[in-house]
Amino acid sequence: MSYLPRYNIQESYRWNYEHAPEPVEVEVPDISGEWFYCGLPIGSPLGIPAGPLLNGKWVRYYASLGFDVLTYKTVRSQSRECYPLPNLQPVTCDQLTGAEKEIPATDQMQGSWAVSFGMPSSDPEFWRQDIEETRNLLPKEKVLSVSVVGTEQENGTLDDLADDYALCAKWAVESGADAIETNFSCPNVCTSDGQLYQSAHEAAVVAERVRDAISEEVPYIVKIGHVADEIPAAFLLEALAPYISGLAMTNSVAAIVKQTTTLDEELLFDGQARGICGDATRTASIQQTELFSRLIAHRGLTIAILGVGGVSQASHVHDYLNAGADHVQVASAAMVDPEIAIKIRRDWNAGSN
Ligand SMILES: Cc1cc2nc3c(=O)[nH]c(=O)nc-3n(C[C@H](O)[C@H](O)[C@H](O)COP(=O)(O)O)c2cc1C
Repeated sequence: MSYLPRYNIQESYRWNYEHAPEPVEVEVPDISGEWFYCGLPIGSPLGIPAGPLLNGKWVRYYASLGFDVLTYKTVRSQSRECYPLPNLQPVTCDQLTGAEKEIPATDQMQGSWAVSFGMPSSDPEFWRQDIEETRNLLPKEKVLSVSVVGTEQENGTLDDLADDYALCAKWAVESGADAIETNFSCPNVCTSDGQLYQSAHEAAVVAERVRDAISEEVPYIVKIGHVADEIPAAFLLEALAPYISGLAMTNSVAAIVKQTTTLDEELLFDGQARGICGDATRTASIQQTELFSRLIAHRGLTIAILGVGGVSQASHVHDYLNAGADHVQVASAAMVDPEIAIKIRRDWNAGSN
């Protein structure tokens, strides 16, 4: 199928729809303590955010490797093709602040990459059945969250977009999703479905519609992009608070990527910004977690924070939890090293944080 994203991280490990590995039987060290995902009890604070888990087989593979919350990659109410290659472009940079003008591309993955998929989706007929089968096969103590996004239509209104988000959420819950995440941030699409987190009013219209479409018992999480300032953060939080159980942050930090060769320089992706994911986003995302955690506490709200961005070690998990996150997710580092949760658990238990 042509919408399949492709990236060969190692020859033996091909990340695409067709090459989902089978679940493995390995010893996964327990982590002591009580952990919750928006009120649902789980075995550890570790999860995979929307992205790496392209279908049910990928969900079950990473579940077998020590992740307790598995987020099914963002799906739509209609199939959508993937952007052209490169979908994953390694970059080399220090911790990002969001103020960078351009950052350099590099050949080898060194921890961070520009992500450029455009939120492709399989057909709803496929993903609805796949989610149902996956929930049935997944150990019952694992949480299956499904990420959805609305698709903007030509001349469509905000109401139409909200209805489309709600339809996807309803379908996912009917298929057995334990939780719903709506993606309100994708720096790689310039339509409003990728920017909702920047408008508190629009975000609230969509969140209310989604909340109404699913049972009150189902945790509902909104995934947001990079928000560094207190005033827009407070507006967004207050607008979303009546409808949501959790906020996932940070999707990525947007930047323009420049490739330099001995002959010339070129701005990749036609000079448009792309979401940078991985190591370079950790400081910004932890600061954002601290900011929202403080705002939530001041208002006495019960909203969980899912910390995501640049996690690859037990110490990073501690840093997010100390900043106020209730749960921590790993995307890029888990794609590069599928056994990362096992290593994090070992280091956590050894106290080498
Ligand atoms: C390959 C890839 C695909 C992604 N696709 C999605 C997506 O479909 N929906 C979404 O909300 N976030 C998506 N993301 C963003 C991740 O969920 C996460 O927010 C980001 O990668 C930061 O985590 P990391 O630093 O551990 O990679 C994707 C990330 C990667 C690396």
